Amino acid sequence: MSENQRLLDPEETTEESALETTLRPRFLREYIGQESVKANLEIAIMAAKQRKEPIEHVLLYGAPGLGKTTLAHVIANELGANIRVTSGPAIEKGGDLAAILSNLEEGDVLFIDEIHRLPKAVEEILYPAMEDYALDIIMGKGPSARTLRLDLPKFTIIGATTLASLLSAPLRDRFGLSHHLEFYQAAEMEKIIARSAKILNIDLSGETATAIAGRSRRTPRIANRLLKRVRDYCQVRNSGDISLDACQQAFALLAVDHLGLDAVDRKILEVLIDKFRGGPVGLNTLAAATGEEIDTLENIYEPYLLQLGFLDRSPRGRLATASAYEHLGKKLNENGLL
Ligand SMILES: Nc1ncnc2c1ncn2[C@@H]1O[C@H](COP(=O)(O)OP(=O)(O)O)[C@@H](O)[C@H]1O
Ligand SMILES: [Mg+2]
Repeated sequence: MSENQRLLDPEETTEESALETTLRPRFLREYIGQESVKANLEIAIMAAKQRKEPIEHVLLYGAPGLGKTTLAHVIANELGANIRVTSGPAIEKGGDLAAILSNLEEGDVLFIDEIHRLPKAVEEILYPAMEDYALDIIMGKGPSARTLRLDLPKFTIIGATTLASLLSAPLRDRFGLSHHLEFYQAAEMEKIIARSAKILNIDLSGETATAIAGRSRRTPRIANRLLKRVRDYCQVRNSGDISLDACQQAFALLAVDHLGLDAVDRKILEVLIDKFRGGPVGLNTLAAATGEEIDTLENIYEPYLLQLGFLDRSPRGRLATASAYEHLGKKLNENGLL
């Protein structure tokens, strides 16, 4: 991966996970934005606490870096519950899940990240566990096989995934609560950056927070990463003083423009416009022409370009919009189309 790909990749890197823990809000009141999700969860949490029952199973879905893992921990903290953490790809066999479930205690939260990647056989063990707090164990083989039902303590599953549609319908139906995390508003991003700066002891002015927010793709994880890069730059080149000017220089060095587009984003649009007259062009062809993986193109670059209205999807392929031409300073008629 190139330096810039890593910079704007909303997925968490390994070195980052330790720091993310220090930056993570721990309670609902520290969690910025996502107001309607928070309001709904607050009611569900209060109601469950009053009844002294576990909260219903919660599904959180939304793009990488928007705060799903953070929110799962917040819910557990608010409930005063223990949280166990695992992920879809980590549970390979039914027995793995059975072991995790049978070790849970009353009221525990089990967080399953990337829950859409649970193997089918494992998923089927989860159904009775979620619905009836029961574990069905098959003893023996062939005609003499019997099912033994074990009772489990009442617990809560919090599942996280990027798209709810990636989940099978029976699994989705077993979540009593299902919430979509949205990309953040500019003002919310500024608050998140100011909060992180305070925790990291970075002296940041309002205008520099705004400058970083504008380049963060409305994603907290990217904002935190940019903040750290800006701090490093200013430490080395500006004796630690984080002025707006020094920030701009850092962004220029990182090749991130004022909308948060990096060199790869711009290359995608340029290839579309210059090589394919603005499209439509199929995803495979576009991947080949830009030298990017299809997966990276679709999951990391496209969502933000679509959101900015720089890219359109049509049945015949991807199209560059008039705003994309304008952003890159290209003339529409030059290419004849649109
Ligand atoms: N609502 C929020 N308020 C403040 N910081 C947030 C918020 N959501 C996410 N973050 C920050 O962004 C980082 C990434 O969030 P995370 O929960 O790991 O995202 P996801 O699991 O959706 O990929 C966290 O370390 C946290 O510091
Ligand atoms: Mg996560």
